[in-house]
Order: sequence, then structure tokens, then C-alpha cells
Amino acid sequence: MEPRLGHPMARRKLHDKYFKQAKREGYLARSAYKLIELDDRRRLLRPGDTVLDLGCAPGSWLQVAAQRVGPRGRVVGIDLNPVAGSFGPNVRTIVGDFTEIDPADLLDDGRPANVVLSDMAPKTSGHGDHFHSVRLCERIVATLPVLLRPGGSLVMKVFEGEAFPPLLAEVRVLFRDVKTIKPRATREMSRETYITAKRYRPPREQETGDNSESGGRGAKHTPGKGSAS
Ligand SMILES: C[S@@+](CC[C@H](N)C(=O)[O-])C[C@H]1O[C@@H](n2cnc3c(N)ncnc32)[C@H](O)[C@@H]1O
Repeated sequence: MEPRLGHPMARRKLHDKYFKQAKREGYLARSAYKLIELDDRRRLLRPGDTVLDLGCAPGSWLQVAAQRVGPRGRVVGIDLNPVAGSFGPNVRTIVGDFTEIDPADLLDDGRPANVVLSDMAPKTSGHGDHFHSVRLCERIVATLPVLLRPGGSLVMKVFEGEAFPPLLAEVRVLFRDVKTIKPRATREMSRETYITAKRYRPPREQETGDNSESGGRGAKHTPGKGSAS
């Protein structure tokens, strides 16, 4: 049985090793170690990359991504809540709802990102959380032609359940290299897992955002506003 909050065992779980390590190492949340492990295993973030961080608050993934892309890189984050710290000049954050914002507003100079990260999670209620989580992921997949450049990478948190296999199958069509990983920092009881996908191949007709034949693989997207919504 789960220990009640306030019970010494519950406190021990809350203040687990990653929580303490994050405090020691100056990360805003223990989730930092999830991205560190995912990136160490999959080599997703490179110096100079442009990264979108969906569901970025309080901000530990922003910290990790900004470190890994370095001063020539760029990180743009969005969350319903404001972030908890200040970041370097290569980080911009937006307070807003990813499902409502025009995806083009997340781009810097209209250029799609090298990497899209999502640690977004619906407020857990115990009812339908899995379906809410999959809906968020579906929204991300639908906006990829605007957000992600061909060849780019995606990391997306999802709560496992019956709608997970069709979502994964959809991602497998769009990326050449797909793996699901449950990082060590994920809590034991959690149903969350991360889809990590590399080498994005957008659907041909969406590749330029305007159905024209002129842009091939590697061509820059110049999407019009709302083109993927
Ligand atoms: C687990 S937290 C992210 C932690 C973050 N990766 C970090 O390391 O600091 C999940 C976040 O997703 C955000 N979120 C959930 N739904 C969202 C939405 N529709 N648009 C933007 N953010 C959303 C929540 O507000 C919450 O801050």
C-alpha cells in the first residue's frame, strides 16, 4: 500500500536521490536527470541546435538543453505556468497553452527546430489521464510539419495505456529510428514513458507547408501561420 503523505516513507520517496541530486547540482527539478539520460543514450542534442521544449516549467529541461546546445544554440520553451528561474540569453520562454497557440509562434525567425522535446503532462486526476496525455502527443505529431525540420528529433512523454500502441505506430511512420525509454529517474509507480524518435521524414505533401513541389528533404520550411492546426 502507498504510504500516506506525511508518513516517513512517503517523505523518503519524495526526497529521493534525484531530488537531492537536483538540489545539489542546481537543477530546478529532478526531471533534469530524465533528459540527461535520454540524451546520453540517444544523442539528440548537439551544439548549435535549435530546441523547442513543450511543457517547460519549472525549467530543468531548459537548463539541460541550453547547456547541451551551447551559446550558438537556441531553446524556446512554452508552459501553462511561468518558469522558476532565469536562463541564459539562448533561452526564450512563453507562458501559454500549447494546444491553443499557433505553432508558428514558437519558432525563431520562422525556422523549424532541430529537436522538439515534450515533458507535457495533463493534471493527473486518476480518470482519463492516459487519454489526455495521448491527445497532447497527437497534437504535437500534428504540428511537427511546422515545428520540426526534416531529419530532426522528437522526445515525447506519454502515459502508457490502450491508445499508446497506435500513437507509437504513427510516430514510427514519421521517423526512421524510434525507441521508447523509461529513464531511471522516472518514479517506480509512474505509467510514463518517453518516445524518442530520430530522423524525421515529414509527409511529402506537408514538407514545405504549402503543398508545392519545390522543397525537398532538407529544404527549409516556411510555414504560414496556422498551417498545421
Ligand atoms: C512534468 S512538468 C515539466 C517539467 C519540466 N520538463 C522540467 O524539467 O522542469 C509538465 C508541465 O507540462 C505543462 N503542461 C501541461 N499541459 C500543457 C499545455 N497544454 N501547454 C503547455 N504546458 C502544458 C504543465 O504546466 C507542467 O508544468
